[in-house]
This record gives sequence, structure tokens and C-alpha cells, in this order.
Amino acid sequence: MKVFFKTYGCQMNVRDTEAVRSLLERNGYAFTDDEAAADIILVNTCSVRGKAEDKAIGKLGLLTAGDRRHRAIVGAMGCMVQRLQERIFNSVPGLDFAVGPRSAWRLPQLLARVCSGETGVLAVDGGESVDNLDELDGHVQSQSPAAFINILYGCNRGCSYCIVPQVRGSEWSRSAAEIINEARKVVAGGGREITLLGQSVMRYGLLNPVWDADYASSRGYSEPLPRLLEALDAIDGLERIRFTSGHPSGCTSELAYAMRDLSAVCEHLHLPVQSGSDRILERMRRGYNVATYLEAVARMRAAVGEVAFTTDVIVGFPGETEEDFNATRELMEHVGFLNSFIFKYSPREGTAAADMDDDVSQDEKMRRNRILLEDQNRRAMLLNERETGKKVEVLVEGVSPRNTERWSGRTRRNQIVVFEPPGNIECGMLLNVKITRVMAQTLYGEVV
Ligand code: 5AD
Ligand code: SF4
Repeated sequence: MKVFFKTYGCQMNVRDTEAVRSLLERNGYAFTDDEAAADIILVNTCSVRGKAEDKAIGKLGLLTAGDRRHRAIVGAMGCMVQRLQERIFNSVPGLDFAVGPRSAWRLPQLLARVCSGETGVLAVDGGESVDNLDELDGHVQSQSPAAFINILYGCNRGCSYCIVPQVRGSEWSRSAAEIINEARKVVAGGGREITLLGQSVMRYGLLNPVWDADYASSRGYSEPLPRLLEALDAIDGLERIRFTSGHPSGCTSELAYAMRDLSAVCEHLHLPVQSGSDRILERMRRGYNVATYLEAVARMRAAVGEVAFTTDVIVGFPGETEEDFNATRELMEHVGFLNSFIFKYSPREGTAAADMDDDVSQDEKMRRNRILLEDQNRRAMLLNERETGKKVEVLVEGVSPRNTERWSGRTRRNQIVVFEPPGNIECGMLLNVKITRVMAQTLYGEVV
């Protein structure tokens, strides 16, 4: 049986898809990247905004049209399943099975049931259930030298607009030993870079114990994330470590020192700001204001030097005025984000913000979105121009998707670099590249 995956949503979903693929391969299923050749199609869904859900429902509707005997078995996994539970079968009547994010380890058994003729099979575990997640630590060997590793599941922050706590459950950290073991396996399989994932990754290890009692940090770190970074930094062959997403309250001095002192930890932080207006941040229940956000940025830059900051912003949150919006523009300019992801506010059922009046019109949300994107392009272009003539370290990721004569990779600051390949090129190599030309999203250079 060949399985095809379609993945919507964030990096955590990308990682879950890979983990499920590895689990199914261990259980005798094969993978295909050709949808038409698949016996089973699994759609990994996202609930963060209404549009993401509409896309997945649209795709599932197309896939399940017609008689089941003449089409592939179709299943849904991920956040929408957790949110809708059995209601997903009303939205997609022909759906064969659905499995929530914390139940994905059950897939071999569920698929066996579906293959023997059962339909409408549903598996969702409660938010607290974290049993058997170790089944989901597999990685698929691929060309890319960069891998994702989950370190923290769920989220307890309760931002007023966010569906994540409802669908991903409450915060729970994996044990450090398991994570280190998984990272070693990634490196043994050819990986050179890992990105540690958590909805609020800096809360790693703050609620449940993650270390054996006798673990001692040789640098004297006391906080769980710096300790984990230190242990991972010591793995031979692991060149780069990133972690995402951050929160200003987690930007402690110790974390800044870890970023400065541990050579594998990259000078890049994704620190979602969401808004540059204190009034809106308060309504979003983000737990910081503009001043404390800027202090966090300054603390990291003071210790580490040139940290590249990237961010997420929501435009058109309930009550956002032109003045609030301009404050966001100002803050983004002040921090100098190298990249940003802009989202139009989308009310999510069951969140606190869903009770507020969604009073910014769709047109106005689009206008604000467009302005922030234009600002971002201009700013990224200016920031990137400073790189012209410099030598940067690039981790080679593969042939450039746009122009197959060229190859591409990333800098430690997470900028994409495109270059002419030398004769002996391989994925996972570290090369020095001199930047000759820049665009807002890409640097171009020559290998030196
Ligand atoms: N509407 C719009 N954007 C949202 N995000 C989260 N919830 C919503 C919502 N209801 C954005 C935030 C978050 C990113 C992953 O998605 O910016 O950081
Ligand atoms: Fe959502 Fe807030 Fe958690 Fe991020 S920190 S996932 S925005 S609740």
C-alpha cells in the first residue's frame, strides 16, 4: 500500500507528517510523492485560521468525491480533527478516517481497520494524553541536511485569538535524553542542522522535569533550554541548532549567553510580536508590551551581536485602529525584522477573541496586510544590501528550486543563498560564499 501526504500549516505539521511517514514505513507501508499512484491519501490539517481550514476541507472534498472502490482511501490528521472531532465527517461526508495530533501513533492499527472495510474511523485523545509519542520520533532520510525535532507539545499561554491550546492540548516537554537521542540519530543519518520545535519553545522544561537528577551542566546553566542546547551542541557532526517559536519572556540572560557561547546555536530568533500597540497586545493577552518586547530584543543583541529577528504579525485584530496599526509599522522598523509573516485576523470559535466584535473590514485587513508586506520587502532589501561583499557560511541544501543550474543553502541567520556549484558539491556541506547581489528574500554569491 502506497501512502501520499498533503500537509497544511506550520513546521510542527511538517514534522508530524514526517514522523507518521516513518511510522507507517516501519509498519510495511510505502511512501509515494505521486498523488495519482496512492492507495491511501493522508491530509494533515491546520486550524490556525479559517482559510487554512477551508483549503483542507476543499482538498478532502475533491479526494473523497466518487465511489470508494474506485479511489484511494482518504484520511485527515492534525489540528482540524482535534477541533471538529466527529463533526469532520459532516464537513467531508466521504472521509474514511480521521486522527488527531496526539493519536497519530495509533495509525497502523486504524489503517488496518480501514483497509478491512470500516469507514468513519475516528481517533482523538484528550489533551493530557501523551502516551506513546515516542513512536513518533522517526526521521526520513532525505537530501535536506536540516531536520525538525519536537521538544515541547501543546501551549498554556492562552492568547485570546489562538486555537492552539484547544487543538494541541496543554504544555508538556519531552525528556532531554529522548531529544538528544533523536538528534544523534538525525546526525548519524546525515543531518547537520536541527530546529527544535514548540509552540512556545522557550517554556521547555518549565512545567515537567526533563533531566535525570544527576545531569550537570558544564557551563553552569540552570534553565532547561540552555542546558538542552549545551548537550546538543556537544554532538559531533551537528553543525547548527535553531529553536522556534520564541516569546519575549523566555529571552533570559542565560539563553542569550547560550546563544553567544555555544558554537552550533545560530544567531537567528523567530520572535512573534503580533502587534506593536500596547492596547492591542493587552487585548491579545500576549503577556508583554512594546517596552518589554524591545528589552528582550536588546538583551539578546547585547550578548550575541547580530541576531537576525523574524516575526509573525496579525493585522485587523478586533479594535485595531489606524493608530494601533501605525504603531506596529513603527515597531517592525525599529527592530529591523529580516523576515515577517503577516496574517489577517480570523476569529476562531471557542477563543476569547471570538467574543469581541470583528470590526476591521476585510478590505481594511487586506490594505494593512499589503502595507506591512511592502514595508517588509523594502526593509529586507536594505538589510540584505549590507551583506554585499561579505563572506557568509552556507549549509548546502540542494539544487535551487528556481534555477536547476544553481544550488542553494542557508546562512546561520537563516537567509537563503543561491550560488554556482563547485564540482564536488554535496548536500550538507558547509561552504563560504561571497555575496555579490541581493534581493529581499534571497542572497546571491560565489563560492570562495
Ligand atoms: N487569526 C490570524 N492569525 C492568527 N495566528 C494565530 N491565530 C490567528 C488568528 N486567529 C497567527 C499568529 C501566529 C501564527 C502562527 O499565526 O501570528 O504567530
Ligand atoms: Fe497561540 Fe499564544 Fe500559544 Fe503562540 S503562544 S501558540 S499564539 S496561544
